[in-house]
Amino acid sequence: MSCTVAIGAQWGDEGKAKMIDYLTRDVDIVVRYQGGANAGHTVVVDDKKFVFHLIPSGILHEDKVCIIGNGVVLDPVELLEEIILLEKKGYDIKDRLLISDSAHFILPYHKTLDSLMENFSDEKIGTTRRGIGPCYSDKCLRIGLRTGDIFDLPTLERRAEAALKIKNLQLENIYGEPPFALDEIMGILLQFKDKAGSMVINTQEYLHNAIKDGKSVLLEGAQGHALDIDHGTYPYVTSSSPTIGGALLGSGLNAFDIDDVIGITKAYVTRVGEGPFPTEADEDDSERLRVNGNEFGATTGRPRRCGWFDLPLVKKAIQINGMNKLAITKLDVLTGFEKIKVCIGYDIKGERVDTICPSKFGKVKPLFIEMDGWNENISKCRSFAELPKNAQDYLNFIEDELNVPITYISVGPGRDFTFKK
Ligand code: IMP
Repeated sequence: MSCTVAIGAQWGDEGKAKMIDYLTRDVDIVVRYQGGANAGHTVVVDDKKFVFHLIPSGILHEDKVCIIGNGVVLDPVELLEEIILLEKKGYDIKDRLLISDSAHFILPYHKTLDSLMENFSDEKIGTTRRGIGPCYSDKCLRIGLRTGDIFDLPTLERRAEAALKIKNLQLENIYGEPPFALDEIMGILLQFKDKAGSMVINTQEYLHNAIKDGKSVLLEGAQGHALDIDHGTYPYVTSSSPTIGGALLGSGLNAFDIDDVIGITKAYVTRVGEGPFPTEADEDDSERLRVNGNEFGATTGRPRRCGWFDLPLVKKAIQINGMNKLAITKLDVLTGFEKIKVCIGYDIKGERVDTICPSKFGKVKPLFIEMDGWNENISKCRSFAELPKNAQDYLNFIEDELNVPITYISVGPGRDFTFKK
C-alpha cells in the first residue's frame, strides 16, 4: 500500500500529466483532487496525443480506477465530451471512472461570469474563462450545485432555481446580459445524470476502503504551487489549492495516508496569464524556450511566458508541500543554449533572500548564476549516466541547492522519455 501526491512546483504546465502517466503504472487508483477544466493535461501514447481537462490522465491505463474527487469543479458538458472521445478511441471506462458525489458543477453562468469579469475588470487575472473562480465562489457562498444532488431532482431543481435567481440578477443588472433559463440548466444536469450518474459515488469512502484493502493511490494535482489561492502569487492565482492541503481536502484522505509528495518542475519555468514572474527571460530567450518547448496553453492555446529555473520558488514549494522527491521534465528543451541561467536567490532592497512567499514576488530582483549548456541531442538518453556532463552538472546543482533528490528525469514528450535518476 502506498499513497503518493504529485504536485506542480511552479505555475502549472510542469509536465504533470506525463509524469502521472508514468507513475500510474505502479498504482491502482488515480485521483484528481482540485481545479476543473482550466487544466490541460497532455499525454502522448504511441505518437497519439491526448489532452485531458477533467478526467485523470491515468485513464489511459486500462486496469486503473480513476476518481474525480470532491475538490474538483466539474463542467458536465466538458466531462461528457471527454468520455465520448475516450470511448470513440476504444477505451472502456464504464467501471473505471468514479465521480465524487460532492464535487461542484460548473454551469454555463459560471463560464459567462468568468469571461465578463475578465472583460470588465481593470485588474485582469488572465483566467482560462472556464468558470473556475465563479464556481468555487458559489461553493463558499453555499449556493453551488453538487454532483450528488442529481439523485434528488425536486431539491436539485429548487436549489438551481434559487442559484439562478442570484446569478441572473448579476448578469442582467451588473453586466446587462440576458438571463439563463432554468430549463437549460436542468437539461444539462439531467443529461449528466443520464450519461454519468452511475459513476457518482461517495469517493471518500471508496478511497478509505481501498487503502484499507492495501491498494495504492496516486493523487494528481492540477495547476501548481505558485497558482495556489493561499500560497501563490495572489491575486494572480487560480481559485483552488493545488498544494498538499488541497490534496487532502479534495480527496478526503488524511495526512497519515500520505507516503510521498513528488514535486514536478520543468527544467526551466513558464507561466500563463498575468502576474509576477521574477525569472522571466528576455524576449529572445523566452521565444527560443517557447518554440523549443512548444509552450502554448493546452486549454487556451495562449503563448506561455518563459524563464529560467527559479530555486527560491521551488524551495518554497518544497517547504509548503513537504516534497520529498522531485521530477524534472523537459530537460531536452534546454539543449543548444550556450549558457543556462539559474536563479539562486532574490535581492530585496539590497538584501539577499533564499526564498519568500510568491505573493511578495512583485518586489524581488532575481540573482542569477550562469551554467554551461550542452549541444548533444539528449532525447535518446535513458539514464543519468548517458546525459552530457553539463546536463548532469545542471541537475546536480539543482538537487544540491534544493536538498531533495531528483528521482525522475524526462527528456521528451512520449511515455518512454522518462527515466529514474
Ligand atoms: P483560472 O484557474 O481559469 O481562474 O485562471 C487563473 C490563473 O491560473 C490564470 O493565470 C491562468 O492562466 C492560470 N491557470 C489556470 N489553470 C492553469 C493550468 O492548468 N496551467 C497553467 N496555468 C493555469
